[in-house]
Amino acid sequence: MARVVEARLLRLLCACALSAPSKSDLQQADILIVHDKAKQRSIAALIADMPWIADAPAFLVFLANGRRLPHLARLRQKPFPNDHLDLFFNAVVDTAIVLATFMRAAAAVGLGYCPISAIRDHAHIVSEMLALPERVVPVAGMCVGWPAEPGHITPRLGLDATLHEDRYAAGEVTRHIDDYDRRRHARRAYARQRSPERWGNASFYGWSEDKARQYAEPLRTGFGAFVRAKSFRLD
Ligand SMILES: Cc1cc2nc3c(=O)[nH]c(=O)nc-3n(C[C@H](O)[C@H](O)[C@H](O)COP(=O)(O)O)c2cc1C
Repeated sequence: MARVVEARLLRLLCACALSAPSKSDLQQADILIVHDKAKQRSIAALIADMPWIADAPAFLVFLANGRRLPHLARLRQKPFPNDHLDLFFNAVVDTAIVLATFMRAAAAVGLGYCPISAIRDHAHIVSEMLALPERVVPVAGMCVGWPAEPGHITPRLGLDATLHEDRYAAGEVTRHIDDYDRRRHARRAYARQRSPERWGNASFYGWSEDKARQYAEPLRTGFGAFVRAKSFRLD
């Protein structure tokens, strides 16, 4: 059986994560620990192609919270003329920083982790299961456990593609992608090709082919409607 992640350690890691910098000190991110294994299994059952969710010794959900700030306005009897897209955006950015900080803290104690944005494929159901109120939306789940084997670092696009100096350098995108595809393939080739029944078997299968195939399918098209239904204003 997988080794348990102690509740006290998990709480400590959450405290580290929630101490992360926050836009204007607004603190618009929360973490929900799913202690209830039946609930974790129910979430896992929604995402059958990711069995590691059910197996994870600990499962958390990182939440963007756009609820506290309007609450402060009501509490302190102030107007709140900032109910627009930026409220949502700031809350999601804060949550992403908390998520990244959690991963760094978990890595520092030797834990493994896997964020799960796929919970947003079932945002309505997950939201109901976790009793998320208005203006609180899941950004990602997180599997946590003691790793069975060492991880590896995935090479990223070269700085030629992603680091700009003084002005945005738009040229040579295709060359940068081709270079990266080859460099990455030489280090660690994809074990299998995505959707060969639709796209066939490519003689060279690189990152760009994989990502183009992945995003050739409609994904999470209902998420905007979900966020609006949670009373976020996105204009
Ligand atoms: C925000 C975020 C969401 C992710 N969502 C999922 C997910 O839903 N399911 C999953 O198995 N992995 C998920 N991952 C893990 C990435 O797929 C993983 O980082 C990737 O497989 C490759 O590892 P790398 O980080 O070394 O590139 C997510 C990672 C991040 C940062």
